[in-house]
Amino acid sequence: METSKHIFYYNLDRFFNIHRKTISDIFTDAMKDGQYLQGNETNELEKKLAGFTNRNHTITCGSGTDALFFALKSLAINGDDEILVPAFSFISTATAITRAGATPIFTDIDPGNGLMDLNDAKHKITSKTKAILFVDLYGNMPDGNTLETFAKTHKLYLIEDAAQAIGSERDGKKAGSLGDISIFSFDPTKPIHAFGTGGAILTDDKKIADYCKAARQNGKNPKTGQYDQFGINSRISESQTALIHWQLKTIDSQLSKRKTLANHYKSKLKNLPLETMVSEQFHYTGNFHKFVIQTKHRDVLKQLLAKHGIETRIHYGKCLYEHRVLSDYHSHCPNAETLANEVLSLPFYPELSIAEIDYICEHIKHYYS
Ligand SMILES: Cc1ncc(COP(=O)(O)O)c(C=O)c1O
Repeated sequence: METSKHIFYYNLDRFFNIHRKTISDIFTDAMKDGQYLQGNETNELEKKLAGFTNRNHTITCGSGTDALFFALKSLAINGDDEILVPAFSFISTATAITRAGATPIFTDIDPGNGLMDLNDAKHKITSKTKAILFVDLYGNMPDGNTLETFAKTHKLYLIEDAAQAIGSERDGKKAGSLGDISIFSFDPTKPIHAFGTGGAILTDDKKIADYCKAARQNGKNPKTGQYDQFGINSRISESQTALIHWQLKTIDSQLSKRKTLANHYKSKLKNLPLETMVSEQFHYTGNFHKFVIQTKHRDVLKQLLAKHGIETRIHYGKCLYEHRVLSDYHSHCPNAETLANEVLSLPFYPELSIAEIDYICEHIKHYYS
């Protein structure tokens, strides 16, 4: 077995170097008319994203974190409200709720795919519950009809945190199309990314869209120029919206590369005593945002891979309520706690080579042999 490689968890400079000329041209074109914010590139991207997800409106903003915050604010969520949210996600899924002044109520997850367990959610509904903030974890999508019916039955707003899920689809429903509002993130770790931060809000409701358009510009109504509502400064530059737009046009080839690599990982790891939490099940397609394995030996395996130059990450090593910043909302969600102890994200990006995956898998197999 070869022992002297270094395999990064992310390798964005590979992406840049492969597409250097295209990216330079995109930036030059986007900058040449001197409009750096909210010009044609942003308008075009917003139209394209709306078409891509079958939504009526898309509003880009500075990050997925801000997109979640704007989504909650646009629904007039406030201090008396409780929001159902999975206990296992990125921190800002929950801190967006506390930032809006409301209370996160943590629900357990389905151990097979990491998605919110609606049975647990149902038991946690009270007269104060106003919304469900559902996360398409690792790009895995729920059954959209069941989720939307659940929200309607209990008269709750449904916000879809699709930060990790652009390009995923299940039973004809795209990530970004579920419920009242969806959000995307374009941070550099996402399948479609800015060279910096970026996010988007997607909705069919014009009032929500108008609220968010003003919210991203310090509350300025883009039509009247008046400051009539709450807002902060949260926009993406034209060069970045152009870069995101180009990636969206070529998303199919990127998804197919991700699928090939994920299948290769799966075939190499089959028969080992570990689970792969990969986002494709037979009746839907995921975007393969991450390649996550689940094993009771997570910490030892992580150390062993590091010794062989293989960087891995943990998404996520704590349930949300275990973070100090959220300790006022403590809960107990056994499935989420198990995953927090057992998940390990392996290097995964379209520019990863088959030989590198073979190298990683050889070391994993060696551990179990
Ligand atoms: C599930 C989830 N929600 C929200 C966010 C926040 O997005 P951003 O990093 O663009 O603020 C992320 C980003 O990592 C995420 O993974």
